[in-house]
Amino acid sequence: MFGDNEKKLSKKKDFWIEFFAGRIDGGHRSSAEEFLSMEAEEKLFHLKGGKTLLDFGCGAGELLSYYAPEYEQLVGVDFSASMLDEASKRIREQKCGNISLIQADDKTVWDKLESSFDRITAAGVLQYLTLQEIDSFIFNALSHLNKGGKIVFFDILDPRLYPLWKIGLFSQDADILNILRKIGFEFKVMLSASLNNRPKDILGFAHSPNIIKKIANKYSFEITFVQSMYYEYKYHAIIY
Ligand SMILES: C[S@@+](CC[C@H](N)C(=O)[O-])C[C@H]1O[C@@H](n2cnc3c(N)ncnc32)[C@H](O)[C@@H]1O
Repeated sequence: MFGDNEKKLSKKKDFWIEFFAGRIDGGHRSSAEEFLSMEAEEKLFHLKGGKTLLDFGCGAGELLSYYAPEYEQLVGVDFSASMLDEASKRIREQKCGNISLIQADDKTVWDKLESSFDRITAAGVLQYLTLQEIDSFIFNALSHLNKGGKIVFFDILDPRLYPLWKIGLFSQDADILNILRKIGFEFKVMLSASLNNRPKDILGFAHSPNIIKKIANKYSFEITFVQSMYYEYKYHAIIY
């Protein structure tokens, strides 16, 4: 199911660890609390209930802290110490006593968990995992998901829309010259990344909904896709 390209991409894992070392925010379209709260509201709508939640790749807790009032117990997981420091500050400031944080990655997290969850979610994280890693994530999540639970992956880069967004087709002032300039720029970025053995896109990998569906179905899950409300080139996958 996964080709040679996957193996090459997996070797670039260290790149993402370095990329997030020292970062202190999740790169949302706006870091204003008003925007984060609206984004979290959209996510809570799709999460639809449950009492316990695992937020994988929680970053600085910018969404997690808004999920807190809706859940009894929450666990945030991230491999970046700086992100977790920031999340910890945020949790303290916002008095979210029901959140605990764990430093781990997609492989080490499962042995560190002491309970299972009604919701396992990840926002803006799938782009840093290869298809092989997403497959393993869903397989492992199976044994940490309560009966009737859901896995909800938010904001997956859509390979059909992301290239169009990158060349400015969604921008209000899209014109042919700007688009051609951006195509040239993207080409140079990709060439340089390939020569330097880096992932070809700083935002990570775009994964097709068809492939995510195949992986979910392999583990007997149903899946529903929803367009992201605040990022026109991203989609959500609700797995149940
Ligand atoms: C774009 S940020 C999103 C953060 C958060 N979910 C939010 O929406 O604010 C992606 C986060 O995923 C984390 N991450 C990426 N790959 C990971 C992995 N394999 N294991 C653990 N954390 C990972 C990064 O450290 C980063 O904090």
